[in-house]
Amino acid sequence: MCWIFAYNGDTDCREKLVNGLRLLEYRGYDSAGIVGVSKKKEIFLEKAVGRVSALASKVDARREDITLYTTGIAHTRWATHGWVTQENTHPHHSSDKRFYIVHNGIIENYKDLKKDLEKSYDFYSETDTEVVAKLIESLYDGNLKSTMEKVSTRLVWAYSLAVVDSQNPGTIVGIKLGSPLIVWTATDGIYISSDVNALSALAETYTLLEDNEMVVIEWKKYSIYMAGKQIERVSEKIDASQVIDELGNFNSFTEKEIFDIPSVLENVFSGRIDFEKKQINNETLEALGDLDIKRICIVSSGSSYYAGDMGCYFFRKFAGIPCQAIISSEFLSDVFLPDDTTLYVFLSQSGETADVRESMKIVKAKGCMTFGVVNVVGSTIARMADHWLYSHAGVEVWVASTKNVIAQVAVLLMMAVSLGLKKDMQITDARDLIAEMADLPDKIQETLMKGPKIKKIAKKYATYKHMFVLGRNYFYPVAGEASLKCKELSYIHCESYSAGELKHGPLALVSKKFPTMVFNPMGKFYAKTISNVQEVAARKGPILGIISSNDTHKELYTDTIELPETSELLSVFTGLVSSYLFALYLAEALDRDVDKPRNLAKSVTVD
Ligand code: F6R
Repeated sequence: MCWIFAYNGDTDCREKLVNGLRLLEYRGYDSAGIVGVSKKKEIFLEKAVGRVSALASKVDARREDITLYTTGIAHTRWATHGWVTQENTHPHHSSDKRFYIVHNGIIENYKDLKKDLEKSYDFYSETDTEVVAKLIESLYDGNLKSTMEKVSTRLVWAYSLAVVDSQNPGTIVGIKLGSPLIVWTATDGIYISSDVNALSALAETYTLLEDNEMVVIEWKKYSIYMAGKQIERVSEKIDASQVIDELGNFNSFTEKEIFDIPSVLENVFSGRIDFEKKQINNETLEALGDLDIKRICIVSSGSSYYAGDMGCYFFRKFAGIPCQAIISSEFLSDVFLPDDTTLYVFLSQSGETADVRESMKIVKAKGCMTFGVVNVVGSTIARMADHWLYSHAGVEVWVASTKNVIAQVAVLLMMAVSLGLKKDMQITDARDLIAEMADLPDKIQETLMKGPKIKKIAKKYATYKHMFVLGRNYFYPVAGEASLKCKELSYIHCESYSAGELKHGPLALVSKKFPTMVFNPMGKFYAKTISNVQEVAARKGPILGIISSNDTHKELYTDTIELPETSELLSVFTGLVSSYLFALYLAEALDRDVDKPRNLAKSVTVD
């Protein structure tokens, strides 16, 4: 999505703004821009379509301009209103070029506003943001703060924004509604950012604005206002676990994050499971059993949706509680039937995904029980939830979610076991499972060691244009997640199905040129899925089996990835990790930019 960075201090802002945007780069974007204002009211505006490096080169090419632009705002854009063009790139300005604005989110009523404003102003872009710039100009009352108060009453829907008034250099106004906005003081001035991860290298503490709050920076000091009244806020410390890592010897951050998974799992279990006593040992998990839960509804998007769907199998199996995973945008599109005995679980890496956040607001408004499983500490969804657990995956830097999905699935498994123990789950079964979970980081390590073999297989599959991914039971959502990861990283068309659905239509596509990946470790449904494998083999479709090493039908597969020995349930984790390596190497074989897949953004803060 779009991201905001801003600075006011004594020194020149241009390099700081470009470097700030570099820190936000991991989130995905398609164009970037900055504007700086000097104490003498001179303006420096630069925009570029493409990477921040393109913007940096343009800014660098103007280095003979030695003016000190001490106040500035910057932005990376992920196109929503209007194509990726220089004209649509932020910052946007009023017609008199006095006010400059950067904005994250969507202004739902921009068309109505524009219709009105078009009577007085010409528009140069297709964006909703330019409409806000013109609105500021039309409502300006001699003071930017009070003008912005009026402007915000006219805007519908979630956004955060930052505005400079070139006639009042030294002033920046930021408003938060929905999308995050944070402010902090550094030795060289005041900064605003829409991402806490981006500031770990720059600050130790920060202040997070709440919805409808406004921050006004004036000459290296800032104040926060709510409904026009100044309010006090205590700064928060940056969580060390939220600091972005260095790349080290890996080819990409995505690869690094996959190889982080064993230590992520240790973090997830730490302080929550006592492996010596083989029991759950965490207040939040244990308190779950005291709630009157008759049903669970998991609301999330993308990879988090698939993780949620895996969790549903666990809740049904161990706790005997009916559970349904719902895609958050569908939750918003359906009738909500509130239920006091349903636990509504919101699963999100970023904790900021707009559809998940809006779904949660609806549930909270009806007073139903909410539980957040979130990775980013202090994010909106974590702050809104009645109960929550962090997924403790550490900062997930680039676009594709991998280590966090594993962490989410592990948290859901612990929740299911904890609830199960308060219901009918046998203590001995729980102890056996916990004992196995203790070995999971090592089993993942073993899976990662298969990297070179998986790379070889992936090279072969990179020659195909399409692929099916199949699985049954737990491995149905695992197939969904594997398929999502393959398509988003490699751009190969992948579709996932429940293995049993194949013969109800999709089989028509299987041929020598249309391969199928199948998750089928030894377990309850092994034989049934083998029948589906046979159906593909009979049509000469190449088959990649993600299977147990003691599989008895290896001859049916064209290629195999053999999982380390675990129970069927824990091969969900090793199966996912194998598919992550496969997707990564598939993308590398096709020379894709795995850290920054085209058209995608890390955190989807628009609906
Ligand atoms: C895919 C991916 C996305 C996210 C989805 C939800 O690799 O990362 O599908 O899972 O956008 O994001 P969160 O979990 O932040 O709500």
